[in-house]
Amino acid sequence: MSAPSEGATVGARSASPAPEDAPPVCARGLVKRYGDITAVDHVDLTVRAGDVYGYLGPNGAGKTTSLRMALGLIRPTAGTVELFGRDPLVVGARALQGVAGFVEAPRFYPYLTGRKNLELCAALDGGEARERIGAALDIVDLAPRARHKVAGYSHGMRQRLGIAAALLREPRLLVLDEPATGLDPAGMRDMRRLIRRLAGEGITVLLSSHLLAEVEELCDRVAIIRTGRVVYEGDLAELKRTAAGDYLLRTTDDVIAARVCNSRPDIRQLRHHGSELRFSADEPAVAALSIALIEAGAAITALAPETASLEDLFFRLTEGDQGDSGAHPEVSEASQSNGGSGAAQPAAVAAGGHR
Ligand SMILES: Nc1ncnc2c1ncn2[C@@H]1O[C@H](COP(=O)(O)OP(=O)(O)OP(=O)(O)O)[C@@H](O)[C@H]1O
Ligand SMILES: [Mg+2]
Repeated sequence: MSAPSEGATVGARSASPAPEDAPPVCARGLVKRYGDITAVDHVDLTVRAGDVYGYLGPNGAGKTTSLRMALGLIRPTAGTVELFGRDPLVVGARALQGVAGFVEAPRFYPYLTGRKNLELCAALDGGEARERIGAALDIVDLAPRARHKVAGYSHGMRQRLGIAAALLREPRLLVLDEPATGLDPAGMRDMRRLIRRLAGEGITVLLSSHLLAEVEELCDRVAIIRTGRVVYEGDLAELKRTAAGDYLLRTTDDVIAARVCNSRPDIRQLRHHGSELRFSADEPAVAALSIALIEAGAAITALAPETASLEDLFFRLTEGDQGDSGAHPEVSEASQSNGGSGAAQPAAVAAGGHR
């Protein structure tokens, strides 16, 4: 029912069991080059069972290209991706068992009705997919329009029909490329509710988005991609903590203040900015620090939380080349200098320059 790569709606029924405890998505070292352009540059992703995983990045960051590789629609220049432990390029369509979704936008025959399009999808899938059409239309709230031609559907209705098509396959993993983009606020809200509902039913969701608020509302884990590179992967809650936990400190004695801060393990990511110190910490650590500073003889002239919002952090992570040298502040380097291991430490990027 759709072209194999553009606007592809992908999926297969979960007919045979996937390997036990293999994660729904495991990408390692994924690279895609188009001539001079490196669309995806050594991306590692792990989507765990039960995640609502946000793949977040600005336009052109490489989200769609990554998802296409994940679904076996295009061949990586390098690297591997496995779905429930199976590589689509090795085992073919069998890797898509239990996987459904769409990339860019779902495509349907415009001169056929929504229901007829779903019937064609179900016929391709075989099995009991056809019996699920009514329920799928109900879930996406399209039952009243199912007998209308898709040509007359709004953008939001087509998106929802795409999800209905995916649901025919009873997916365990749903891959959605910017499912709410182009929808009006009510359409976005409905799409988010729908995704939450599906996640609540135990479907693992990998969705791409360039909207931080959307990801914030829906996702528990995220990867943030910029110019093909993942600059943060991990818990959204952890990213939020980083955004909220930055403090600025000025005292009457810079040397004592730095020594006291350095001696306290709960004062993290200490940075010097002229006569100010900046660090990450939680509130109890800041309270204890204030006492320690006074006891050590450094009177506090300013101790204030930095107001970096999650949105600021997103921009720091996705708008890179503002450092003094003009170099891109790569998180991996920054996180190493902070003793980071593997996962990027987003606050470390702030040290590389911001806007
Ligand atoms: N088939 C192609 N040929 C050449 N360049 C491509 C091709 N597909 C993608 N690119 C380039 O790869 C980069 C990443 O594109 P991609 O579509 O993956 O970004 P995206 O994050 O999905 O962006 P958007 O938010 O706009 O959908 C862009 O520079 C794009 O121009
Ligand atoms: Mg895209």
